[in-house]
Amino acid sequence: MRPVIKVGRVLVAGLAALGAARADELVSLGASSCSSSGCHGGAGEKSDQFGVWAQRDVHSRSYATLTTARSARMAEALTITDPAVSPRCVVCHAPLAEVAPSRLGAGVDPAEGVSCVSCHDLPANWLRGHTRADWTHADRVAAGMRDLDDLYTRANTCVACHQNIDPAIVNAGRHPALMFELDGQTQDEPRHWREHAADLGAQAWFVGQAVALREVSWALLNGRADSARAVPVWQGLVWLLVRSGLDYGLPPLDPSPPAPAALASAVAAADELAKRAAQRWDPSYGPVVLRRLAGTRSDFLAPDAAQPLQACRAERLVLALDRLLDAIPAARRPPGSSERLDRLFHLAQSRPDFDPAEFSRELDGFARTLGEGG
Ligand code: HEC
Ligand code: HEC
Ligand code: HEC
Repeated sequence: MRPVIKVGRVLVAGLAALGAARADELVSLGASSCSSSGCHGGAGEKSDQFGVWAQRDVHSRSYATLTTARSARMAEALTITDPAVSPRCVVCHAPLAEVAPSRLGAGVDPAEGVSCVSCHDLPANWLRGHTRADWTHADRVAAGMRDLDDLYTRANTCVACHQNIDPAIVNAGRHPALMFELDGQTQDEPRHWREHAADLGAQAWFVGQAVALREVSWALLNGRADSARAVPVWQGLVWLLVRSGLDYGLPPLDPSPPAPAALASAVAAADELAKRAAQRWDPSYGPVVLRRLAGTRSDFLAPDAAQPLQACRAERLVLALDRLLDAIPAARRPPGSSERLDRLFHLAQSRPDFDPAEFSRELDGFARTLGEGG
């Protein structure tokens, strides 16, 4: 992993957006500092961010995960003495544990896991002003609070802990393999905010997949990935983004197996794609991309792609279809499409048993439920 700064913002591969110097700042703010009733610990829905996080968000329990029997078994396989203090684990599960105790303010406890500062950034300049009623979101961002409304910044924040992981931790340690998908993971996190845009779903999905490609490319390029696992993921993602047909005027991604030059250009191209899509998105894109991706059945019959690659494409595809369908209001979702999608999920479930021809037929059925004008 490549440390960028040490608090919750650790491994945004290929991006030194925040600058290493900030690792020396005093980290004086734990979640409890934000929890008073006049601030983010109020009773009302608008001011209980602390309560939502502390009671319902897994991020407040991510340190506790390191003290379970399962973590002890992982640690043993990896010859780690104590996962609750090992940098190999706390980097994502308890970022404050990486900060020297002398730099932690009173009452800040690493056991609080992934807390406010991990996502909203260190309270360097925004702390005082951010409570002022006359401050707008833009004022807070200008003072250094991370702009999580911007999907590119949000994706970079979440992906820092949700995709690249030392392959040994997965292979020997049997840690769950990580896969980043911004829209689904945002929906799965209990929300302590109101989303400012009504229909972020498809856009969040697309920005997230571009950022996922950037991160896989970076990890492969820098020898931080297990290529047996990561190359098919890379190819699946490139295929998905190419088939989405939203290129934002950028040169097409090269879908051939990744050589170093292709990886380096994919890091840059995917980053640019994510940035542009976060800035400009039309509500028609989601349904258009859904149809394009649903229309890829012949790709699964193509003789040029081996079964393992097809299985990876299918895995990415069903997750994409799920998000794009979910982004359509329930009342307008084409009848039968959800049931068809369930069957596609079932067929994509097991990579070794994946049958491209059968998947292709079922995908055709799914595409037909979308019909005309759907
Ligand atoms: C500092 C690292 C870190 C950051 C930043 C982070 N997470 Fe997590 N996240 C974790 C860890 C660690 C877990 C596992 C918690 C556990 O079970 O111990 C997790 C679990 C989750 C889960 C539940 C498991 C899953 O993958 O479905 C969701 C959902 C999630 N995070 C969403 C997000 C979103 C959305 C963002 C960005 C807004 C984000 N996370 C940012 C570290 C992080
Ligand atoms: C790159 C960030 C990262 C690192 C490093 C990391 N984890 Fe995790 N861990 C996560 C995320 C994210 C999840 C949630 C994954 C999911 O649910 O799909 C998770 C899930 C887990 C779970 C499963 C929790 C559950 O009950 O579902 C355990 C146990 C765990 N991690 C232990 C460890 C240990 C022990 C280490 C160190 C050897 C470690 N992790 C290193 C990010 C990380
Ligand atoms: C896993 C990442 C993550 C963690 C941890 C986290 N937040 Fe957030 N927070 C977000 C995202 C994403 C948003 C939505 C974008 C925005 O409004 O800036 C948000 C929004 C907010 C908002 C704006 C609410 C609104 O409706 O506009 C407040 C206030 C806030 N968070 C406070 C907190 C506090 C206090 C904590 C700690 C108790 C915390 N957050 C922990 C990711 C996180």
